Amino acid sequence: MDAIGEAFAAIDRRGFLPPAERGMAKHDGPLPIGHGQTNSQPRTVADMLRLLDPRPGQRVLDVGSGSGWTTALLAHLVGPDGRVVGVELEPDLVRFGRANLAATDQQWARIEQAARGVLGRPEDAPYDRILVSADGGRLPDQLTSQLADGGRMVIPVAGRMILVVRDGEHLVTSEHGRYSFVPLR
Ligand SMILES: C[S@@+](CC[C@H](N)C(=O)[O-])C[C@H]1O[C@@H](n2cnc3c(N)ncnc32)[C@H](O)[C@@H]1O
Repeated sequence: MDAIGEAFAAIDRRGFLPPAERGMAKHDGPLPIGHGQTNSQPRTVADMLRLLDPRPGQRVLDVGSGSGWTTALLAHLVGPDGRVVGVELEPDLVRFGRANLAATDQQWARIEQAARGVLGRPEDAPYDRILVSADGGRLPDQLTSQLADGGRMVIPVAGRMILVVRDGEHLVTSEHGRYSFVPLR
């Protein structure tokens, strides 16, 4: 089993679902978490994490932390020498995600309320890895500017999964299949 598979085995999706959805945890599809938002499809999360390739000790930004599941998976992957900050726009989901994340006992990860009109969390940048779980429509400069040199960002853009790698001032982008996501607001 690779590191991503181990993270999925260690961080139980059930703990990131509302009680009524927990019986569906093994379903390979998105599941509702309220406010019209979803806990993402497991296969999609695995594809995104493999593209992102987070390593122990890295600084990671999780944009659209929702249920807190991806934040907790990322925390497991970077380990206690790393740092993960999730940002979420919907206040109820900030509370839900924080409670779910706290139950995994990974103090090197936290979830913050996103400020309207501010993408990501510039005050803690740069990040070695940025995961975005909502479709940006286009590649947002506000997020690429928070990426460290050599860093990787995975973001759905207009239905296509995009990997961005920063090489100094240069951004190298590549496309990795079609996926459907809620919009980044
Ligand atoms: C697919 S959902 C949740 C994904 C999450 N990783 C999970 O598995 O539970 C995407 C989330 O992005 C949030 N979102 C949308 N635009 C955002 C923004 N500009 N900043 C932070 N969160 C945002 C939505 O409120 C939603 O909770």
